Amino acid sequence: MITYLNGTYGKLESVSINPDDRGFLMADGIYEVVRFYRGRPLGMAAHRARLENGARAMRFQRTDFPEFEHVMTQLVTRNGLADEHSATVYFQATRGVAPRSHGFPPPDTPLTTYGFARPFRRHAAEIADGAGAITLEDDRWAHCDIKSIALLPNTLAHQKARDAGAIEALFVRNGEVQEGTHSNVMICTAGGVRTPPLSNTLLAGVTRRLVLDLADELGLPCAEAPVTRAELVAADEVFLVGTTVEITPVVRVDDHAIGNGLPGPVTRALQERFFALVDAL
Ligand code: PDD
Repeated sequence: MITYLNGTYGKLESVSINPDDRGFLMADGIYEVVRFYRGRPLGMAAHRARLENGARAMRFQRTDFPEFEHVMTQLVTRNGLADEHSATVYFQATRGVAPRSHGFPPPDTPLTTYGFARPFRRHAAEIADGAGAITLEDDRWAHCDIKSIALLPNTLAHQKARDAGAIEALFVRNGEVQEGTHSNVMICTAGGVRTPPLSNTLLAGVTRRLVLDLADELGLPCAEAPVTRAELVAADEVFLVGTTVEITPVVRVDDHAIGNGLPGPVTRALQERFFALVDAL
């Protein structure tokens, strides 16, 4: 695999990272995952904008990433992934290498930038049949709008979901559903689509925005408004949206079947629109 590190492309085996990197010592970094379909990216500009917003929120010494699109495309091409049905490209930036200290390093310290690309298989079975989710109290920090590499609460929650035979854990804060460990969540009641509003407690998903636009195009009433856990389990339909999950129906939440326990018509209609869109990229 060919990776990217600080301006240079090279084999993964020959890349080395300084252990004084603040990403390694302090999880002091941010990241993006972009999906490519047959060599074409989905939502590239939105991913870059979110990375740059994150860099500003983190008060990084560099907050613009003009190399982002080029690096992504190069990683896909150099790894022979341009013809794959789909691939994911990962890009991470950390505050750089400096002797460990809680204070920021000097402003001329270069960020560490790292990227890799991998083939990605669509989660076809879950997308077709739906899957279960669990709910958990949200024990993350108060800046979940920053796509931080500090993912320990997300990984612990995701593993709990897997241990329970579910595909995602949905975080609940003060009785309101926020998002999943690596996806946003939407519900459907009485034919309308609702998703929690943007705030500091969830990530502004690129797929979330896209699916809201698709729902609008389909003439479905859409609301960005709070969703309580009680509303989640009583919804007609529930689905996850995200770069990796695309649009995945949730047919069970904890011990409750959603609707009749099968993916519903609104989810199906949105999936159809979404897959047509990515097929036409
Ligand atoms: N995760 N919420 C969280 C916490 C996420 O980590 C993600 C994406 C999303 C969906 O955002 P988008 O539609 O922009 O992918 C929501 C990526 C895929 C990951 O961590 O691998």
